[in-house]
Formats: sequence, C-alpha cells, structure tokens
Amino acid sequence: MGNGKETREPGEELMQKIVSLCKRRGFVFQSSEIYGGLKSAYDYGPLGVELKRNLMNEWWRDVVHSRENVMGLESSIIMHPEVWRASGHVAGFSDPLVDCKLSKERFRTDKAGPVEVQSDGRLVIRAPDKAAAKLWAEAVKTQHAPGARVETRDKDVVLHTKSVAPPAEGRPGKIVLAGFDGGPDVEIPYRGYVTPDFNCPFLSEERTFNLMFRSFLGSVDPLAEVVDVFVANKDKSKLELRALIEAALAKSTVYLRPETAQGMFVQFLNCLNAVSMKIPFGIAQMGKAFRNEVTVEHFTFRSCEFEQMEIEFFCEPGTDDQWLEYWKNERMRWWRQYANNPDKFVFRRHAKAELAHYAKDCYDIEYEYPWGFGELEGIANRTDYDLKKHAEASGQHLVYTDSARNDPATGKPPLRFTPYVIEPSGGATRGTLVYLIDAYSEETRRDAKGEPVVRTVLKLHPRLAPIKVGVFPLVKKDGMPEKAREIVEEFFRAGINSRYDEQHAIGRRYARHDEAGTPYCITVDGQTIQDDTVTIRDRDTTAQERIKVDEALSVVQARLGKI
Ligand code: GAP
Repeated sequence: MGNGKETREPGEELMQKIVSLCKRRGFVFQSSEIYGGLKSAYDYGPLGVELKRNLMNEWWRDVVHSRENVMGLESSIIMHPEVWRASGHVAGFSDPLVDCKLSKERFRTDKAGPVEVQSDGRLVIRAPDKAAAKLWAEAVKTQHAPGARVETRDKDVVLHTKSVAPPAEGRPGKIVLAGFDGGPDVEIPYRGYVTPDFNCPFLSEERTFNLMFRSFLGSVDPLAEVVDVFVANKDKSKLELRALIEAALAKSTVYLRPETAQGMFVQFLNCLNAVSMKIPFGIAQMGKAFRNEVTVEHFTFRSCEFEQMEIEFFCEPGTDDQWLEYWKNERMRWWRQYANNPDKFVFRRHAKAELAHYAKDCYDIEYEYPWGFGELEGIANRTDYDLKKHAEASGQHLVYTDSARNDPATGKPPLRFTPYVIEPSGGATRGTLVYLIDAYSEETRRDAKGEPVVRTVLKLHPRLAPIKVGVFPLVKKDGMPEKAREIVEEFFRAGINSRYDEQHAIGRRYARHDEAGTPYCITVDGQTIQDDTVTIRDRDTTAQERIKVDEALSVVQARLGKI
C-alpha cells in the first residue's frame, strides 16, 4: 500500500464500518462493555462465535480429518513452568520498550523509525496541541537539552540540528543541537529511533518486558510471601530485594501459554507411542493463547487473548526443505479457497537477520489488511531445536526410532534421530478478521424511484457463514409460518444452522441476512400453500429460483458442499 493519507483514510473508514457491523449484527463486541470495556479483549457474539468456530472446524477438517499422518491434541493452557524455561520464553519472549520523556508514551523500539530532520536542519517535535508544545519546550530547555535553541510554533517544538549520527559499530549515536542565542552546541544521545508520531528523541533507557501472563498456582498466598521477604530484607538494595522476591515466588509461578506449540513438543513421545505413527507425521492443535502485548491494534488483529491453529510436523532431517515447501503451498491453498479476493494473500520470506535463532527458514502468509500487509500465519522450519531443548531440560529421550531401518543381516541398530519440525502457525482470531474484511461489500443499486440504495453484504464463503439458511413466511398468516417452521426443523435435523425469521417486511429481512452473511434465504409464500414450492434467494446475486419444498434441503446441501 502507499504511504500517503489517501490510502490510509479509506482503510480506516472501512475498518470503522466493519467494527460497527460486527457490533450491530452480533459478530464481535468489546469485552466488558458495560464497565467501559477492557482494552484489547473481545467477545464473539451469536454470529461471531459461529464464524470463528466454522473457520476452526474447517481447519481441523483439512489438517486432521483429511490426512492419515496428522493427529490432534488439546494440551492445557497452564503447563509446568519448566516448559517455558526450556523453550526460551521465560528469558527471551520479550519486547524492548522505551518511554518518551515528553509525551510519556511507551512504545516498542522495533516499531519506531529514525528521526525526521528537515532540509534546513530543523527537528520538529509534534505535540498534540499548543499547550502541550509550550510545556514540552520548557521541559527540553530545563531538563533534556539545557542551553539548546528551542522554539514553539503552533503545536510544534522546534530544535535546530547541526548533525545527526545514529549508533554504529558499538559507538553510541548523538544529535548535535545549535545553542541558544549563538551559545555553545548541545549534544544529546540518539538511539537511532524516536517516538512514533511525535518525532521526539528524548527517551528513557530501554527495558525488556516479558509478554507472558504470569499467575500463581497452589494454596500459598504470593503476596504473603512477598511481604515476608520484604520484612526480612529491608536493608537490601532494590535489585537484591527483587531477586529475593522472584526466588520466593518462583515456587508457585505459572504462565498462561503464549502459543499452543509447546504442548505438542512436550507430548511428542506420548502421541507417538499412543498412535505409533511413522515419520513424517504431525500433531495439530487449536486453542487459546495469551500475550501481554504492549501494542494492541487494529481491532482483533493484535489482542492479548487470541486463538491459534498450529501444526508441528515432524520429519527426517534432510527432508525438511521439501516439507516446508509442501506446507507453504498447502496452507496458502487453504486460506485462499474461502476468499473472494485470493490475491490479497501473499508469501513473505523472512530475511536471514529476521529469523529466530533456531529457525532455518520461515515464510509468512500475509494478508493485505485495510491498513497494509500484515502477518496471518507463519510457516517455519524450526529444525530439531525444540525437541532437543525439552530433552535436555526434562532428561527424556525425545527421539524417533525407525525400527524398519534396522538391518538384522548387518546387525546394525535401528535408526534413531531427533526429528526436524516444520511449523505452520496461524491465527484463528486473525483469520476470522481477515474473512470479515474479505467479505465486506457495499453495492449501490437504484430503487423503484431511481434513488440510490446501498446494500451491505457479507460475502462469506457458505462453509464459513454463521447461518446457512434464513427461512421466512412472506406474511404471518395462511399457514405460511407453520410451513416455514417445518422447513427450519428439517434443516436443524440435518445439522444445518438455519433461522426462522418473520420480523419486518421481507426486504428488511433479506437486508438483515445479507449483513449477517447468510448465503441462502427461503421464502414461503401464497404459492407454497398451493403447489409446495418456495423461492430460494442467493445472497450474492440476489437471484431467486423456485424449487420444490422437498428439494430445499438437498439443494442447500449441494451448494454448501462446494469449496
Ligand atoms: N508457535 C509460533 C508462533 O506462535 P507467532 O508468529 O508468534 O508464532 C502465530 O504466532 C500466529 O498467531 C500469527 O501469525 C498470528 O496469526 C497469531 N497471533 C500472534 N500474536 C497474536 C496476537 N497478539 N493477537 C492475535 N493473533 C496473534
């Protein structure tokens, strides 16, 4: 996408419309809304829960129920804390964070860009309003760069740079500012980035912030432990006290899982022994994961509680490149097959510097969201890193034994190795958002008087649609409601989610179901009572056909079966 306002604003407008439709029709609500809402937590309403569940069921059908060599698993959300030490999440699953000394914004350093300096050397710090600009200028003069030339212009604080040097080869970066009234230059430290939006170079030290939610398991009150340590060690420094408190809490500390993946690594042997699969084989799991994200953004795109759909596919070292290629293609095929705009799904290969230290190769499936391209699923070659780490930490032999390859003639022992792992790791929460965006459409038509009328339609794939069939009596009399209810009952018995709807005029009922993404609407009218036929309306074309009542189920079943 472009970087100008023209491309961003229509995207924002589109997202607002989608968020509003989600609330209006019952797809997604802000969590705890009556209490003012909880940041970054969302509830799935009557239609949203069906959409997300349909998506996850489709994934399960494709990766577990359609393959002989992939088995399912549901591991617990709270696992032994050693799991997260061995996997590296306790030490390394963190974001570098910094505070802006002027705006007090806290932001991730990896999301921040370099300082903007104008061609005449002016560095403009953009305050939110005039009053803030005055206060910030004062703080720069008195605390952050005393002696520097500082001016305010409307909402801007203006500094004058003589040179800007980002950090390089172990040398710290610096910005040299012109002094006030021709006085000496003033040097300020420069880390190579500034506060996003404000362009402010005055920043706190970097700190790391672990993304895992921590809790405490057992009957011991963690606060009582903290108080005991505190009382017994009042004379210690803050740092020492913190270490003592951490040690006391470590006994009961547990974490909410930040990914479902580790459950599959630690149950690798149990699954293998229970099902005795031959390599290559996979374990699949879907479910909740939790991350205390510093930046939550774009509706449900990045939230603190979300759902993942992950596969750990175990293969023999040497065949890993070929399996990565296989899963890349399988996963792209799967995402695209439900989309109206399959071209919006693209691959992005990770650059060497971007790869996690254990990963040999990684591709993201990205989607073109209204705000630009972003990740939807990662497909990584994780090598034998995870199994080896858990083997080392647990003392268990997490290896695969290929008895078929023992050769009694030569007396060679069976082949044993630690499998390599290909991991397709997708977001179910993010996928639900992607298909809502892909499905949202507005069509302008002319009514009988020639006036433009906007029809809002969610063109969800029928297999994802929350309600498959709306069944309406044209009017609430002449046996039509009874007949319509009979049809709904038949759909229910066949396991097809359908809705009886008699509220408002027929046009409004169609419009309501267009917004809900219901692909088919069946209407019982006067003719039905005479000849046992109904109309079936297609959501996308609005075309109506007359079909026999006793064919309605098979017609819908045939259409739903198509992918
Ligand atoms: N086991 C590997 C792993 O968890 P990841 O790239 O951190 O990899 C995989 O996460 C997928 O989970 C992402 O592609 C995204 O779809 C989803 N995801 C990650 N963090 C998320 C968040 N905070 N909110 C919503 N979805 C998230």
